[in-house]
Amino acid sequence: MAVLSAEMFFGRAFNQDPYEVYADLREQGPVHAIEFPAGVQAFLVVDHEHGRAALSDPRLAKDTRHSGTPVRAEEFFGETLLGLDAPDHTRLRGLVAKAFTPRRAEALRPRVQEITDGLLDALAGRDEADLIDAFAFPLPIIVICELLGVSADDQADFRHWTADLTVPVVSRETAERRRAAAIAFNDYLLGVFAERRAAPGDDLISALLAVRDGDARLSHGELLNTIALLLIAGHETTVNLIGNGVLALLSSPGQLKLLKERPELLPGAIEELLRYDGPVERATQRIALADVEIAGVPIPKGSWVHVSIGAAGRDPGAFDEPDSLDVARADNRHVAFGHGPHYCLGAPLARLEGQVAIGTLLARFPELALAVDPAELDWKRSGSIVRGLSSLPVRLR
Ligand code: HEM
Repeated sequence: MAVLSAEMFFGRAFNQDPYEVYADLREQGPVHAIEFPAGVQAFLVVDHEHGRAALSDPRLAKDTRHSGTPVRAEEFFGETLLGLDAPDHTRLRGLVAKAFTPRRAEALRPRVQEITDGLLDALAGRDEADLIDAFAFPLPIIVICELLGVSADDQADFRHWTADLTVPVVSRETAERRRAAAIAFNDYLLGVFAERRAAPGDDLISALLAVRDGDARLSHGELLNTIALLLIAGHETTVNLIGNGVLALLSSPGQLKLLKERPELLPGAIEELLRYDGPVERATQRIALADVEIAGVPIPKGSWVHVSIGAAGRDPGAFDEPDSLDVARADNRHVAFGHGPHYCLGAPLARLEGQVAIGTLLARFPELALAVDPAELDWKRSGSIVRGLSSLPVRLR
């Protein structure tokens, strides 16, 4: 099997349109070997069947210590749900899921609507705007702060911390920024925990502090890591559900018109936007705990296995006409929120935000259109996981 160079996944051309590359690869086979800089070998799964199966395969782990090249703890905030496997993951997820329930997400709907209305009110009367900056970026961070019960005054700090906790560590300066953010975030939460223990509210931090399963409860480190993960996993993903989603609709006038005429299609349309050009287009990773085979390709123990969620969403074996946006698509079994034990815990909240944000935007600005040629748009290279635009200039009227 030819070994692909990871370089091909880092260039501007791939960033602008990864789906053509995935289609070429898929025609050659579902699993490909890739070589990363420093000689690290990995495998990339590009079809739906094997990708979905890999996401729930217990022989493939999330804890990077099973690889020869573990991700060092200081490169992220610490151990989180996304870095653990059963039984530790099962215990922690059980506790967190008791507090962060679909009902808690749904209870936020009126606030998500109010926040959306407020952000869109600020655009009324303008001819043009950058939809990322003015709408898609602020909405999810305000919503997560509300979910956690963080006061409006502290939200600016939260924005800085999320940015700094996820900054790629490329120099001493960036490493220091991460460390400083982790310390500041920790100090801040210590104060919040003390307050909420004394006077619990109906927010998620109070619920996480109170949650118990028999004698089990969340340790201080688990609380910190979980809150950091919710903040990080819940922010940029949702920004890009809105950004990529609005771009896809504005680029498919027939589908946009259909959705405006039939707003009852909105929930299904959000699923379709997640499939068509979702926020986590790149690979989510696993590590082989033993020698395994995927689609007949031998994968040695300790190898990284990257499952491309974006490629799975465009697999003609799983979706009719996968490269067409179809807001009325039936039987949409996309894996945009993953699959198996790590299935996105925030999916109910993300769906709700997507529906309210995109539904309200289209109703409020019926003339909404792109203000630039899509080929000129700049796709961010934010790490290796999330796909999203730096800006989305639109005409509002
Ligand atoms: C896990 C996607 C929004 C919290 C995941 C995974 C995916 C994903 C693909 C699984 C990763 C893997 O298997 O390796 C998305 C997308 C979102 C979104 C596309 C928006 C459209 C959110 C939100 C929150 C959130 C709003 C919380 C506020 C989490 C958490 C996990 C997770 C805690 C880890 C679950 C576990 O490991 O047990 N997400 N997510 N996500 N997501 Fe999301």
